[in-house]
Amino acid sequence: MCGIVGYAGREESVPILLDGLYKLEYRGYDSAGVAVCRDGKLRLAKTKGYVRELDRIVDGGRLMPGSVGLGHTRWATHGRPTDSNAHPHISHGGKIAVVHNGIIENYAKLREYLTGKGFEFNSETDTEVAVNLIQHYYNKTGEILRAVASAARRMEGSYALGILCEDCPDMLIATRRESPLVLGAGDGGNYLASDVAALIKYTRDVYNLEDGEIAVLSESGVKVYNGDLEETAITLERVDWNISAAEKGGYEHFMIKEIMEQPEAFRKTVSPRVAEGRVTLDELGVSDEYIRNVSKIYIVGCGTAHYVGVAAKYNFEKYAKIPAEAIVASEFRYSGPIIDERTLVICVSQSGATADTIAAMREAKRRGARVLSIVNVVGSVIARESDWALYTWAGPEICVASTKAYSTQLAVTYLLTLYFADKRGAISPEEYESVVREISLLPGKLARVLKDKETVQYLASIYFNNEDVFFIGRNIDYALSLEGSLKLKEISYIHSDAYAAGELKHGAIALVSDGTLVVTVATYGALLEKIVSNAEEVRSRGARVLSVTTQSGAGRVEHVSDSVITVPDTHDMLLPSLGVLPLQMFAYYMALMRGCPIDKPRNLAKSVTVE
Ligand code: M6R
Repeated sequence: MCGIVGYAGREESVPILLDGLYKLEYRGYDSAGVAVCRDGKLRLAKTKGYVRELDRIVDGGRLMPGSVGLGHTRWATHGRPTDSNAHPHISHGGKIAVVHNGIIENYAKLREYLTGKGFEFNSETDTEVAVNLIQHYYNKTGEILRAVASAARRMEGSYALGILCEDCPDMLIATRRESPLVLGAGDGGNYLASDVAALIKYTRDVYNLEDGEIAVLSESGVKVYNGDLEETAITLERVDWNISAAEKGGYEHFMIKEIMEQPEAFRKTVSPRVAEGRVTLDELGVSDEYIRNVSKIYIVGCGTAHYVGVAAKYNFEKYAKIPAEAIVASEFRYSGPIIDERTLVICVSQSGATADTIAAMREAKRRGARVLSIVNVVGSVIARESDWALYTWAGPEICVASTKAYSTQLAVTYLLTLYFADKRGAISPEEYESVVREISLLPGKLARVLKDKETVQYLASIYFNNEDVFFIGRNIDYALSLEGSLKLKEISYIHSDAYAAGELKHGAIALVSDGTLVVTVATYGALLEKIVSNAEEVRSRGARVLSVTTQSGAGRVEHVSDSVITVPDTHDMLLPSLGVLPLQMFAYYMALMRGCPIDKPRNLAKSVTVE
């Protein structure tokens, strides 16, 4: 969704801002803009459309000199994607410019209040309310930091703000609530961004601004104040992400690069947590007594993260013998979940910034649950606010479609399942050992599946003209079907649905006719015969069947399939890790053949920071 970059230093700011905005493109946006402050005057350039259009308008920065500036990519919420709704927004009177991520919930009331004070508005956005509110307090106090602090106190909702003021031309100001902002300390210049990817090229020394803090960046340094404007000491953290992780490294798209990174990402997530045949999650600090007493697990997330939860639900129940329910975050919050101190809520999120998941986490805590999060972005809101956090060491995931985040989240759920199952005495030592052994073999098996990408590419060349694709599966294969279908529809725009295979004949089979493509996910050996029957049912109604199965299952599904993709055998718990790879590649090659903008599908944002 929206992205913020800022710079205050010795260099020309706009080339740095444009570079940062290109890095943030992956988040999804529909307009872009920059502002600089030079010789006591604010200058703005903004446009509907892509950063490259903005780049052309400012001639790479040559038309907008100035060493203190702000940039923004906007994903429309309040008002259509137009030039006038694009950020930065400037206050009535033109003294202050603001870029904003998030939603100011009481903006209508504030707008009415400001209109009554004579302020005029030129856009439909809530951001223009923020900039005018700051201007309003600046008119009263003549002190920009006091004005920002006063405005922050009156705004409800979520916001990350970057602020420039003509009267303080050397300063870049920032504040936030519930929407992330990171400060970067460099040599001769300091940086602001909503996401580390935008500033990692310039500095690795960062500080995650806390809710309610106000930061002032200038060429000479970074100062941070609390809401009462008392200076607070900050400790910089060192980001160890590799720059190449945020670049394509020779691949045509981030998606295929990230698909190929999965064996390594899986290894990085798992290997520090398995030693001498045992899963060690001591980093969590959860007591054995708590684990033994857990009576119910809710697994909460959105989109792909939710589908990790669906797979994990089967595993928690089967191996740890704990009742578990996977629920989408936006439903959890309003469903009145029955929670007590023995309820564990597991929040799954790549970004750690998804608004619905944050809201669900807070609701769970309010109701008395303990929250354990599985998160990729270090220091993100979800990681910080949950009782316990386990990081997935996937590195930055740039493509909107989640792939390596899914794999590493699954990996963490396997470790948790084993850890809990063992502490509760719910799993036999033999089975525990065999899963741990298989986990150590998985990176090699994942690499083998990925090597066979030409087979998947060939199958995509046969099926890419289909306009309706159904995915069916049972048990963990149902969880995989949901993910396979989401991946396909979000990047190829092919209509697709996933069904628990047994549900098909209760309605959806009416849609199956000559040539309909049905992807049968059939990796789970225990239910193979059942899914083979379902494949026969759709085939006899004219469907073409593409089956994804294991090497040992291939012989049993071939006779009901037009095409078969096989993955190596492994322990049942771990099957989703192997089964998802052909589904991800299938979606990728289908989208490639249809000429879709794979990394940035229409209407989607990488990080969904509004409800
Ligand atoms: O950052 P999160 O994991 O919380 O994001 C959740 C979903 O928005 C995300 O998985 C989304 O569904 C992806 N586009 C799926 O590929």
